[in-house]
Order: sequence, then structure tokens, then C-alpha cells
Amino acid sequence: MSSGTKNNEKREISFYVNGKLQKIKDEYPLYTSLGSYIRNVLKLTGTKVYCHEGGCGCCVVHATEFDSTTNQYKELSVNSCLFPLYSCDGYSFTTVEGLGNKNTSLHPIQKRLADTNGSQCGFCSPGFVMAMYSKLKQNTKPTKEEIEKSFDGNICRCTGYRAILDAMKSFAVDEDPIDIEDLKNLKCLNNGNKKECSGACSSHSESFHVKRDNKDWYAPNSLESLKQIMKTNAKFRFMCGNTSIGIYKRQGPFDGFINLKNLRDLNKIEKDHKYLIIGSYTTLSKLQEIFRDISSNDPENFSHLSLMANHINRIGNIHVRNVATWAGNLVIKKEHLDFPSDVLAILEACDAKINVFNPLDEQQESRLMSLSEFLGSKELKTNQYLIESMRLPTMNRNFKINYFKVSPRSSNSHAYINFAYRFQFENAESRKLVNKPLLIFSGVSEHFFNAFKTEEFLTNQDLSNEEVFKKSIEILTNELQLSGVFDIKDPLHPPADYKINLAIGLFYKSWLELIPNVKQEIKSAIDNVIDLRTASKSEQIFETKSNLHPVTKPMPKINAYSQTSGETKYVDDLSILSHQTHGAFILSTVARAKIESIDIEAALNVPGVVGIYLAKDIPGENNVMPKPFGVEELFADKEVVYCGQPIGLVVAESHEIAKKASHMVKISYADIQKPILTIHDAIRENSFHPKPIGDLLKGDAAAAIENSDHKISGELEIDSSQFNFYLEGIIGNVEPTEDGYKIEITTQWIDSVQRSVSMVLGVPTGCIDVQVKQIGGGFGGKTTRPNILATAAAVAAHYLRRPVKIHLDLNDCMDIIGKRPPWYVKYNVGFDQSGKLNGIDYDWYSTPGFTPNGSLAFALYNFFDSAYNCPNYNVRQHLAKTNKAASTEVRSPDVFTSYTVTENVIQHVANYLNKDPIEVREINFFQKGDKTASGHSLPYIEIDRIVNELKETSEYYKRKAEIEQFNSLNKFKKRGISIIPMRYPLTYNLGYYNALVSVKHHDGSVTVSHGGIEMGQGIHTKVAQCVAYELGVPLEMVSVKITNNLVNPNILWTGGSVTSELCCKSVLEACKILKERLEPFRKEMPENYTWSELIAKAFSLNADLSAMYLQRPGKFDELMTYDIDAAACTEVLIDTLTGETQILRTDILYDCGQTTNGLIDVGQAEGGFVMGLGYMILEKSIFDPDTGKLLNNGTWEYKPPMARDIPMDFRMKFVENKPNPVGVLGSKATGEPPLILSNSVLFAIRAAIEASRKERGVTGHFKLDLPASIEKVQQASLVNPSEFCLN
Ligand SMILES: Cc1cc2nc3c(=O)[nH]c(=O)nc-3n(C[C@H](O)[C@H](O)[C@H](O)COP(=O)(O)OP(=O)(O)OC[C@H]3O[C@@H](n4cnc5c(N)ncnc54)[C@H](O)[C@@H]3O)c2cc1C
Ligand code: FES
Ligand code: FES
Repeated sequence: MSSGTKNNEKREISFYVNGKLQKIKDEYPLYTSLGSYIRNVLKLTGTKVYCHEGGCGCCVVHATEFDSTTNQYKELSVNSCLFPLYSCDGYSFTTVEGLGNKNTSLHPIQKRLADTNGSQCGFCSPGFVMAMYSKLKQNTKPTKEEIEKSFDGNICRCTGYRAILDAMKSFAVDEDPIDIEDLKNLKCLNNGNKKECSGACSSHSESFHVKRDNKDWYAPNSLESLKQIMKTNAKFRFMCGNTSIGIYKRQGPFDGFINLKNLRDLNKIEKDHKYLIIGSYTTLSKLQEIFRDISSNDPENFSHLSLMANHINRIGNIHVRNVATWAGNLVIKKEHLDFPSDVLAILEACDAKINVFNPLDEQQESRLMSLSEFLGSKELKTNQYLIESMRLPTMNRNFKINYFKVSPRSSNSHAYINFAYRFQFENAESRKLVNKPLLIFSGVSEHFFNAFKTEEFLTNQDLSNEEVFKKSIEILTNELQLSGVFDIKDPLHPPADYKINLAIGLFYKSWLELIPNVKQEIKSAIDNVIDLRTASKSEQIFETKSNLHPVTKPMPKINAYSQTSGETKYVDDLSILSHQTHGAFILSTVARAKIESIDIEAALNVPGVVGIYLAKDIPGENNVMPKPFGVEELFADKEVVYCGQPIGLVVAESHEIAKKASHMVKISYADIQKPILTIHDAIRENSFHPKPIGDLLKGDAAAAIENSDHKISGELEIDSSQFNFYLEGIIGNVEPTEDGYKIEITTQWIDSVQRSVSMVLGVPTGCIDVQVKQIGGGFGGKTTRPNILATAAAVAAHYLRRPVKIHLDLNDCMDIIGKRPPWYVKYNVGFDQSGKLNGIDYDWYSTPGFTPNGSLAFALYNFFDSAYNCPNYNVRQHLAKTNKAASTEVRSPDVFTSYTVTENVIQHVANYLNKDPIEVREINFFQKGDKTASGHSLPYIEIDRIVNELKETSEYYKRKAEIEQFNSLNKFKKRGISIIPMRYPLTYNLGYYNALVSVKHHDGSVTVSHGGIEMGQGIHTKVAQCVAYELGVPLEMVSVKITNNLVNPNILWTGGSVTSELCCKSVLEACKILKERLEPFRKEMPENYTWSELIAKAFSLNADLSAMYLQRPGKFDELMTYDIDAAACTEVLIDTLTGETQILRTDILYDCGQTTNGLIDVGQAEGGFVMGLGYMILEKSIFDPDTGKLLNNGTWEYKPPMARDIPMDFRMKFVENKPNPVGVLGSKATGEPPLILSNSVLFAIRAAIEASRKERGVTGHFKLDLPASIEKVQQASLVNPSEFCLN
């Protein structure tokens, strides 16, 4: 390729990281990201990388850049996973390590986040810290609401966000702001780093060129040289924010890259009396600023831009907007017509035209084009034209423009549909239109954009005329129906009917906001429920007993400061070993076929590949699941049973090479069949696993139903196949040692890893050493699935005799690993006039995938009846065998779903009898002494007391009356409220958990190793509190060490919510043994002796200062099972035109016994509730019906809750003065049960929908399948465009 390189181009870029100068020539591949450089080269592992998509925020760092348009330094947060290394020239970056550390001093953000228990597993914490740091750098006096909004790019799966937001809001202007360091501390690259930066230079304007791997990277400094480079006819990728790679990962191949940052022409902002010109290298954040400034400085001509500035906030997230350019967005839209670009709709409304340079154009001049011309132009060849700028005309006050966006999640989510309009009226008061209006819809279908016919009809019409309105709705409906929306087969799109109604609903909203004197009832159509949200508030009430301290003391986790300062090391942060290799799986691309042949030659020849391993290479058993589980092949041998199934492993010198080569392995399949993906497919093909457990038969359900006053039947579809979405993916490293293998892995069950590797290698289990210090979230998903990585890496390590590391990023994790299984339920119920249940007959279908290994069906009978006593049951369980990955334990696995099913039945009964559902719930409550469906007796149950208290504290009846009043006054917005009770049984009778407590003779400090895995639930802290309490030593003297199967052999998984309690029990017992041993020495001690003196004495007399205790089933003297009673009351607001929901308030009353640590337990309960609400309304896995491929395997399409999805008012109270009589130090669990309470969100939404249906004359029960996503809510609300009117 001819280069256009000039002699005066520099060959080196320079930038700072935490004040240290970095200089880079051509040492690194051109696609290297800043995140990779920071972690792998600088070893600053506080910055995490997970999704590589700009969607999770754990990679956020702070950047300072010089803005040549303002001659000022700019402070911004960026996603280091997307930011190209070679674009770093001239920047100064700060990572979490640059703020502080726990040994010297913590930054106030790090400290406050830890102190509020805002970090649980801690994996997301550095990203949150840096997002906040950037916020304060930009604005030292933010309001609480501004702070909350700045986390639209950060996901936390553990905390439920409340504690994080509390920590961050403490910096608000009306709370306790801090002095963030002055910007003058910045080093200046121009003056050799000697002086403070004056902010007046425009450094790094020199052009830059580097060549590597036969590709060029240019950073030209003049438009002319850029055009010269472009004329070489090579295929270049322009590097702006590089955020498009987060959505469209496979781009290229390219001949080179051109960074446009240094081009003044592309950064320009010019305004005259007619136009505003904005260069193409303007980021969305900058565009927002420009719109705000210009609209306030020149309101006569540009007031319309102020509204648009606000709308830019809903594009992506803050870290993306900080670097993403508007031009890059338009180019994506041109390349991918189905991309729902918000930028396009916003700019169209502003009547933007763009200046485009096409080197192939004979004129060699840039051309002004409308956006539709640009999109349709065939002359502009991909990556061979340059957008230089856009031109926005002035608009006087006779113009009205606006923009609407509706997306599956409230923030950081692409639109389902966006709509923008531009109307020109005769004058500011008149509603009579002049000229043709503009009506743009994006997202309806690929080729539908302008509603031309409606535009035509509305030309010169009067918007206050009802007839005109009715006719235009009719025309628009017609246009939308012919738009091609019904031809869309992509399962990622919502139903066509929804889209049409939504589009018309948005059109209606826009019309209403333009005409005067709309009556209140109808006005309710206008407001946006997302914008109604203000800063959230919360309350946490729990007890602490000073006589038991440190037990019951609400204290931050012992490792919290290491987490928030980025010092905690997770598996991927551990030092790279010498001779390290990296593995990447070869994955099946079909779901149901025979493997005919596997051709590895091309992959094996890729430089850097060191080996490829298939089923035939496995030295032992091809099975990752030790008994009693069924066989699951490590590598598919003769057939594949799901898409994404591992077929082999490519091992290479780097992760990137391994990944690339894994795609080059050619697999031929034979007998490819359409996959069985849903329960209904399985029923049709009679594809089932053997029954895991017999039917539950209690009494005679059929007779009881038959003899009841009332009988109903129904069905429910629960398709919320929720992914665990731990922020740390699954990662494992297997290192051959002289006597076996050392494994560091993200597992919740070291024993299972040990056994599976021993099986697969055919070596004794004693040769396999597995160890874990902590993992970045698990939620059940790291219980058995890490076996796949451990065994695959072990096979490779066995042959290579080198350490092999496998790192599943988000996409791979979601492809290979199963989810929470979907359910389908049919039921018959008999009950009396009061709602008292007589009998229930159920058919439960669930689908654990190709194997039943992940199903919890055998345990469900203990749980599903929750707080309700029904005398007669017949429950039949069916496990559909599908071509999907093995379902995974996901926090309260299967159990959660069974509770939703029960609540749905009660709701159905209440709807049938036209009663308040809480009345029907209460009349069926268990009473003390009753027995559950599985025969477990309930000596302590107090659910009615809990519900009564909650009714009072939440002011249920008062608010219910207010809600009825609100609903009667608002036709299109409805509120709903619901109380959901819960009884959740837990048993200590699960498995082995041990602890080793050792006292050091030198100073009496204590070390502990216990069998639980720390994954954010605070087990290490609770264990340390118990040790300190039992031995009577200060907490600071206790340290909790790694879990490994030398010290902690044969132990069960960490899961089921009770591991913390059982490990606490083990350490308490071990401490008691130690105390007993020390007793004789105490007698010999002088008065006022200290603990360390006692230990020294005991040691000198040969005392054994270590004690081990093994907690195992049946070892407790006391009762082995206890129940948790709790209830939640939630109120929601829904928009019946769009289906969007705002959770206004949630009150939870939870029986936590005597909490060991209120801060931790509240955090667990809130986190569980918020994860549950994701399941209720947001999360779902979508598969290609032909290939079985998971279509939403990343953050662009899969949407866990974010900070602004949690209740606006979130109140958590633990029941007072109620220690658990059978609990460990009176405690009860908090890990899984709180999820059940998120049913209150679902049933509050139902109540709101019911109000909408009732207003439209439809009463009675209706089916609301899960997740209750926006499209389902809108469709169930039964609003029909035919009812739209202007007054
Ligand atoms: C997490 C996330 C969330 C997002 N959410 C939204 C959303 O809600 N709504 C929405 O509309 N978008 C959304 N986006 C898309 C985002 O707005 C675009 O990725 C971004 O605007 C592209 O700009 P960029 O500077 O990063 O382009 P790059 O990725 O750097 O480039 C994209 C393409 O444009 C070309 N290009 C760039 N500049 C020029 C130019 N001047 N002339 C010619 N070609 C050029 C490049 O060669 C490349 O082909 C999201 C993106 C992410 C990562
Ligand atoms: S890793 Fe960068 S945003 Fe997820
Ligand atoms: S603490 Fe946020 S993901 Fe674990």
C-alpha cells in the first residue's frame, strides 16, 4: 500500500498513566486497547475488563485531554476496553491505582464506597470509583440527581446499587462535597513534564504514522494530508471513539487506521446568522454542551437545540458519549440500516445536512447532503469517504421539534423505536402548519423512516382540529402497517403490533404536547415515566447489640478497601506465569447435528498456536460432571447438542491468537436438524428427561377441586431465562507441578473442580490442588460450570507441561453457559367464596437444556407453597430436553420461579372473586403448627404479623386509595401496588464445611481458612467477626486466608444461602476447641494478662494452637431447618402507551434473625431484590430458531437492571428482636430469599395494568407472562389508538 507518509511525521506517541510518561512506537498490535495496555503491560490490574462492549463500565478510567476548540483541558471518563492504545497520544489517564490505596491513603471516593458496603464482590467497584472521580473532575458541585445519572454506564450485579448511590450522593453539593484535586496538578507533555500545565498549548498537533503487521496507523494533522492518504484507495478505518466495535465486533479487514482527532477542521464549531456548523470529530457529550450553550446564547435562532441536548443523554452511556462522535453514529446507520440510531433522528429533526468528501468523486470537493441522501448514496463506498461536518439551520420560535425514545431498559439501551418531529407553525401561538412537517420513525423496519403520507396529509393543516388528528392517525396506521414491519423475522425485535401501537402512541404524545388546553385525564399521555424519576432515596433499619460486638456490628467488609482501591486480585489479575499459554474454545455453530469431521490444520498453522485438543486427546473420561450428576462431555465427540458447545480447545501464546485460531477450525456437520429450543417444541417432539422426582401428592387434589365452590384453570409462561451476569467472567489457570496440577479458578465449588479434573486426566484427585481467594460474583453460575474450563485447560497442560489459562469473556460465557431455565405451567385450582384454597393441580414444565444436571426440580416441593396452606396438591414435574446449554444455578435457582407460579395462582383467585389479592393471600396463610406441602412443620411462622406490620408502615390502604384516585384521573398512566409475602425454608443439612483456626505464637494473631468461597456475600467478614467474638480478640488480629482443598477438603459448594452461617458455625466450634485447650493456661496467668501473653505461655508449654472443625449433615444438635418470613410492598407507575415502568417505592420487612452484620445483610437483601426485578421485567435469552444460537449474548441486547431501574424510594427493615432460635448466633440467611420479594414488582405492574383494562371495560384475570417487559405491559394494557382524541 502506498502510504502518503511525510518525513516530518512523528513515529512515537506519548501519554501519561497516573502521572507516568508512556512512550509507544510500534511495539503493540494496532488493535490493542488502552485497557489491555493498562492491565497487561503496566500491570495495573485494578481496572477490569469484561464485556469489551462499553456496556458494563468495569473498565472505566479517567482521561484528561486538550480540547483544541476551547483551548482548555477536558475531563472525561472513558471505557478503556474500547479506547485504542494508539489514540492515546497527548492524553493523561488516571486509573483507580492513581487515586489511592489502603496502605498509604484512600481517596474519599474509595473510602466512602467501602464504608457504605457499596462493594460486594468488588469487581465493578473500580469502575464506579472512576466514574465518580470523573464526574467530580467535571463538576465539583453536582446535585444528587446528576450524580445518579452519571452511572448509566456501570453495571453492578451484587449490590442492587442503593449502597453505591448512597456513597456517591454523599459528594453532592447539598451533602458533603470534597475538594477534588486541582487540575493544575496535570503534567504537561510539551514542557518535558517540568512545569504545571498552563492549559494554553495545543500539544500533539504533529502528525503521526506507524506501521505494524503490514498495516498503517495515521494521525494526520491537516485535512489536506488526510485527503492525500484517502486517495491511495486503501480501505481505512477512521478511529474516533471506536465505540462501534462495542456493537459490531467483526469489522474490517482494513488496510490501516486513521485517527481524526488532530484535524482542526473536523473539530470546528462555527456559527453565523443562518447556520451552525459542527465538525465531524465532535463527541456526543460535546455536542450536548454545544447545543446547550448555543440555545442559551442565541435563543432566537437556536432555542430548539436545548431540548435536543437533553435527549442526547439517553444515547448509550456517559462513558460512550464522552468519546463517540455523531459522525461515527451516522456511518454505523449507513452500514447497518437496522441500527436504531438516535443521532440520526435527532439531527433530522434539526434539519441537519452533512458535508461529505468522496475521494472517488471527480470534482474532488466535499458535497452537502441531506441525511437521507447520505444513507441512500451508493457512490459512497464503505470506509472510503469522509464526513467533514454538519450544518444546522437556525429555526425561529414558529418551529417545534422534539424527539422520543422507547427502549427495553431505561438507560444505556438502544431504542425499540425512536420518533422525531419538526413542525413549522404560522406563528408561535397558532397551531396551523406551514409547509410539510417532518415525521421520522426509526426502528419500525429497515426501510421505513419518514411517514411520508402522513407528512403529506398534514401539510398546512391545523393541529387543533380533531378531524385532522383522527385522519392523520388513520393514515399513519396504514403507513406503519405497510412499512414492512410484519416481515421482520428477527427474534430480537418486539412484536410488530407493539411497534405499530408504540409508534402511534408516540405520535399522539407529540401532538398533545403541542396543542393547548388538553384536559387532565388525557394529558397523562404526555409525561415520560423515565424523566419523572428524581434522585432516589432509601432507608435501612436493623438492630445491633453492643454486648455481642463485633458480632451484630454493622461494619464494612474486611476486604472492602482493597476492593474499592483496586488492590483485590481476582484470578485474571494474578501474575502471568513464565511459559504461560492461553486457551480458547472451538464452539459449535449449530445445535443439533452429527460431527462429520474436524479440520484443525489452518488453525494449527497460525503463528503462536501451540496446540489443539479434541475429544480424542482426553486422557481420562470425557466428562466434566462427577457423580451423582449425569455425564456431560467436555468436548463434543460424535454429535453436538447445543450451539456454543465446546468441541475442542486451541492453545496459543496469547489469548487473541487462540481466539482468532479457534474460529479457523473447520467443522463439517451431518444430519443437521432444527433444534428443540422451547418447552413447546419439546412437548411437540415428546423430548423429555427422566422425571427427577415423583409427583407431589397431598390429599386428593382432583376431588377437592371438583367439590369446591369455584374452579379455575390457567397457564403461565416464564421465559425469563436469566443469565447470572457476574461481572468477573469464568476464568481458570491450570499449572502443571512436580506432583500434579495447581488450579486457580473462579469456582464456588473447589471439590467439584478437583474431582472433574482428576476424572478427565485419569489421575488421583490428590494430585489436583485447587485454590480460590475470592471471585467476582457467582450467584450459582460458578458452581459446576467452571469444571468445563478447569478440565479443558488441564488436558492442554497435561500435554504441553505449561500453564494454560482460559478466560471466558461475556460473549463466550453467555454462549457456553446455560441460564435460569424457562418454565411453562398449567394449573387447576378449587377454592371457596372467601378465596380459601381447597386444591391445586399443577403441571410444571421446565427446561434445563440438553441435560438435567442443572435442574433443582428435586428440591422444589420444599419451597413452592411459600406462605400458603392448601390442603390438597397434585404436582407433576416435567423436564423438557432441549438443544440448549445445561441450565445453571442462578440465585434461588428454580425455587424463585416456583414462588412466582404460586403467586400467580393466588392472583388468579383474587381476580376471579374480585377481591384485593392481599385478602386472598392472608386468608390462606400458614399458622403456627401447620405443615407445609412437603410435610415440614412450622412452629415459628409469623407471616401474618409481618404482613400486618408492613401494611401499616407502608400505609398500604391509604396509598391504595390514592392510587385509585390517580388512576381515575389519568387515562394513560396507571399506578399499581402489591404486597407479596414469603416463607422461605432453609436447611443446614446440606454438606461439609470446615474451618481451620490457627493462633500465631508470636503475637496472638489469628488466621482462618474456611470452606466457603468469598464472592461478595461477605463470608470472610462474618467469619472474622465470629472468630473475634468467640476468642475475644480485636477484629484486626484476625485474617481470613485462601480456600483450598488441602486445608478444606471434600467441602460442598458455596450456595443455597447458608454457607456463611455454616462456616461461622465451624469457626465458632474451632474457636471453642482452642479456648478449651487454653483454659488450663489461663489459670496460670497473672491478673490482667493479655491475649498475646496467654498465647505465648501456652506455646511455651507445647499447646496446639490450631483447631479444625468440620460441620457436616446431622451434626447439629438443634433443629436443622428454619424458615424466613418476609414481605414486600411495591408501588409502580406505568405508561400504557409505551409500556415503560417506573418503580416508585418498595418497602421490605425481612426476618433476618439476629443479623451478624447489618450492613452486609441489608446489602445482600437489596442486591437479591434488584436481581429479582431484572428477572421480573427485563432479562430474557433469545435464540435463533434455526441454529439455536443465543442472539443476545452481550450488553447491547441483554439488559440487567441499572442504577436507575431500582425503586425510587427503597426501604429495607429487618424484623426487630427476633433471633433465630436454631440459627448460628441467632442469624438467618439473606442471599437468595430476597429475590422472591421482587414478585411484588410484577404484581404491582399487574395491578396497574388491571386499572387500565378496567377503564377499557375488561375485567378479570389475564395472562401476563414473564418477563413483564415493556411490550407485554403495553399490550396487556389494551390501549387502542382508536380511543385517542384531543379532548
Ligand atoms: C454501549 C453503547 C451504547 C450505545 N447506545 C446507543 C444508543 O442508545 N443510541 C445510538 O444511537 N447509538 C448508541 N451507540 C452507538 C454509538 O453512538 C456509536 O458507536 C458512536 O456514535 C460511533 O462513533 P465513534 O466515534 O465511536 O465511531 P467509530 O467507532 O470510531 O467509527 C464508526 C465508523 O464510522 C466511521 N467514521 C467515523 N468518523 C467518520 C467520518 N468523519 N467520516 C467517515 N467515516 C467515519 C469509521 O470509519 C467507522 O467505520 C452505543 C454504543 C455503545 C458502545
Ligand atoms: S469491559 Fe469495558 S465496558 Fe465492559
Ligand atoms: S459488587 Fe458490583 S458486581 Fe459485585
